[in-house]
Amino acid sequence: MNNRRNWLKQIGLGTLGLGFCQIEAFASPTEEYILPDLDNSPILLRSNENPYGPSPLARVAMAKSINNSNRYGWKLWPELIALIAKKNNVSDNNITLGAGSTEILDLVLQYTASKKGNFIMAETTFDYWTAPYEKLGLKKITVPLTKDKKHDLPAILKAIDSETKMIYICNPNNPTGTICNREELVSFIKEATQKTTVFVDEAYINYTKEQSLSDLVLENKNLIVTKTFSKMYGLAGGRIGYAVAHSATIDELNTLKSSPNMSVSIVSAVAAIASLDDEKFIHQVYTSNQEVKKYTTEQLTQLNLTCIPSYSNFIYFSLENYKKDYFKQLEDHNIQGTRIYEENGKWTRITIGTQKEMQRFIAAIK
Ligand SMILES: Cc1ncc(COP(=O)(O)O)c(C=O)c1O
Repeated sequence: MNNRRNWLKQIGLGTLGLGFCQIEAFASPTEEYILPDLDNSPILLRSNENPYGPSPLARVAMAKSINNSNRYGWKLWPELIALIAKKNNVSDNNITLGAGSTEILDLVLQYTASKKGNFIMAETTFDYWTAPYEKLGLKKITVPLTKDKKHDLPAILKAIDSETKMIYICNPNNPTGTICNREELVSFIKEATQKTTVFVDEAYINYTKEQSLSDLVLENKNLIVTKTFSKMYGLAGGRIGYAVAHSATIDELNTLKSSPNMSVSIVSAVAAIASLDDEKFIHQVYTSNQEVKKYTTEQLTQLNLTCIPSYSNFIYFSLENYKKDYFKQLEDHNIQGTRIYEENGKWTRITIGTQKEMQRFIAAIK
């Protein structure tokens, strides 16, 4: 509560005499306020954004913080780091912030490149961030997913050689939505980190009941975990994410930045602080995602389209049995989906939007 008071003061709400409850009341969203105009706007089911967010508390915090945007966030960054550390059961020196977790992904790529060699990732995973790897002098080794589209951890272990400097595990995996459970990963990490760095991307972990691996960094210098406010917290446009790692590893990562934490704006920092404790909003987003995902999976299955059970806010499904031109159907109905990830089986991904959006999506492809 003290922290809360501090940042309220910093963003100017304290002096207005607004208490926390009053802010909540003021921020109560109406459906109209949150949801897009389905008749005129495109339905965005492409980038796994949260269709409900930002959280009501974050909206108020951001609006108020605009008045302070002439200042750097010197005081806010440590406060945010402390809250994030607490949430992850680690210390403040185990955290570094980025403008979205993309900044952290870039940083880890540079960190890997500074050691020279290769890195390993699954054949179908979130890989845009590795685009500059050749220019940075790295080699990439890919390992196919299992038949049920999961990371093949034993095969990844086998692929490690003396030049391997990093292994990327996206958990849950984008685009397949599959997860490895904590037990599997703990034993994988124990073995792999004797030889190399394991980098676990938990961008979608809040959509599961799986426990994050962030606490393991305290004992392990070769483990880096990243998280983002872009998904469950609805701040994709806010651009804020972070890494959790051993303090020595955080120090090393920070030496690759001109100024650690500097890329996070005051507006994003207050939004993140406000969102972290907005349990009500997080619960609503989680529940809605589960319900709408169930509906969408059932509808796709009824259309004879195979879906991979998803632990995230998107579904990976096969267009192999689909008779029409899927992408034309989407275009004709002003819906943005994404591409084919695997030609074999014609696997694509669709983000879980609101119930109305997904009804429109299903109607469009029927
Ligand atoms: C698995 C994964 N990691 C990281 C990111 C990057 O997200 P951001 O930079 O918005 O934190 C994304 C974005 O879609 C993602 O899917």
